[in-house]
Amino acid sequence: MGTIKKSLAFAQELIRGVLLPGEHAIDATAGNGHDTVFLSSLVGRKGLVWAFDIQEKALLNTAKRLERKGLRQRVRLIQQGHERMATYVPGPVGAIMFNLGYLPGGDHTIVTQPDTTIAALESGLKLLRPGGIITLVIYTGHPGGKVEGVRLEKFSSTISPRSYHVLSYRFLNQQNHPPYLLAIEKR
Ligand SMILES: C[S@@+](CC[C@H](N)C(=O)[O-])C[C@H]1O[C@@H](n2cnc3c(N)ncnc32)[C@H](O)[C@@H]1O
Repeated sequence: MGTIKKSLAFAQELIRGVLLPGEHAIDATAGNGHDTVFLSSLVGRKGLVWAFDIQEKALLNTAKRLERKGLRQRVRLIQQGHERMATYVPGPVGAIMFNLGYLPGGDHTIVTQPDTTIAALESGLKLLRPGGIITLVIYTGHPGGKVEGVRLEKFSSTISPRSYHVLSYRFLNQQNHPPYLLAIEKR
């Protein structure tokens, strides 16, 4: 790609611009751990990442990836739904990443669900510090993904513009349902 980045790369660029060493961050969907590695590199040795997933396999994959990179100490791995994040994370956090859908290489029928994703997003908005950012990468190629995207857009468009900036970032002319991004910045 040229100067226009794919959704996940653009989400990372936004987060790189705001997440500071020593801060806390949340990976709401740990999966295979790529985003957990990314966030834990940014928060540094004194920071902390809270990583959630409902599947043991995902957390094992994430733990392995973190260990290989020497980052395991900076991460709390929690086998719970992200809708329960406020029970675990005291906040404030500088960034929260959601990468929705199914675990690549895993069971494709276990996917994020609109109700719990929106509940997690509501918690996340409260945990975010001013200037902090939430990114949601949304996949519409699997059953339910499109509905989840529409529900998230509807919810996000009701968020107070006095308190948050909400951005939608998507390609309008690509084939095969490319993922798209919603990003929310706390003012
Ligand atoms: C697309 S994958 C995440 C990929 C991951 N960020 C990475 O870098 O490899 C989506 C993950 O969300 C998880 N998931 C589904 N429902 C969840 C929930 N309620 N809370 C937390 N994780 C959930 C799935 O188990 C799956 O592992």
